[in-house]
Amino acid sequence: MGGILKQVMSNGLFITATSTGIGKTVVSAVLCRILLRAGFSVCYYKPVQTGAAVSGGRLVSQDAAFVENFAGASRGLKTHFTYLFKKPASPHYAAKLESGDVNLVTIITDYHSLSQSHDYTIVEGAGGLYVPLNDNGVLMADVPEALELGIILAANAGLGTINHTGLSCDFARRRNIPVRAVILISHEEQPTPLERENREVLVKLTGIKDIYLISAAGGVDVDKNLTGELEQSIDQFPPLDKIRGWMA
Ligand SMILES: Nc1ncnc2c1ncn2[C@@H]1O[C@H](COP(=O)(O)OP(=O)(O)O)[C@@H](O)[C@H]1O
Ligand SMILES: [Mg+2]
Repeated sequence: MGGILKQVMSNGLFITATSTGIGKTVVSAVLCRILLRAGFSVCYYKPVQTGAAVSGGRLVSQDAAFVENFAGASRGLKTHFTYLFKKPASPHYAAKLESGDVNLVTIITDYHSLSQSHDYTIVEGAGGLYVPLNDNGVLMADVPEALELGIILAANAGLGTINHTGLSCDFARRRNIPVRAVILISHEEQPTPLERENREVLVKLTGIKDIYLISAAGGVDVDKNLTGELEQSIDQFPPLDKIRGWMA
């Protein structure tokens, strides 16, 4: 019984970042693609999308559209979101401006019904872990904590990342949220010596071994739904066995 429950609870990962516009959606799309091409059914779940695009007179999640575009050609992908807000702002503020109310229980309920009907569920946060979902003190970190999900942290590889990544990992640890991996994204032609040093020092300081330093693929733009050369850069991301191991 405990085994079955654990299996249901842990077949997901929560993708977060040190800030907005860093690479959560790109990482989510790649993880979905890797799991799908191995034949698993996968759900991409975006609990709260702010800065939602307008298409055909209604709000749509551009993050879900990008994941669908990149990974959805493989059969078995479902995308889902719970809250959409037009204002590009922290969820608590966007919700206030648009007379909405972000409810953690609704997110938990949605996640459980999605995860029960898919082999794996990839959940993408908004902003970082310390982003408020409402005015009642609920933070984005409460989502992986409540769902008992490990996280993957996307961060820039360059100057400033030791502080941002270190603080995010430390905060996750205080909340008992396991950091499964960090993905440092380099926007240089080749990862620079400084970026490699950042990776090494973060491994030492955080104790997290799975810190990947990857080069950004050319021509990727999530908001414009351009996948560019992302497919050719997949080998830089964690391999299937690792990803599955983090959800075992
Ligand atoms: N691995 C990557 N390869 C190429 N471009 C990337 C990569 N990761 C992030 N980017 C760039 O950063 C932008 C923001 O990434 P995104 O995944 O939308 O961030 P977030 O979901 O954290 O807001 C993308 O539109 C793209 O231009
Ligand atoms: Mg995103």
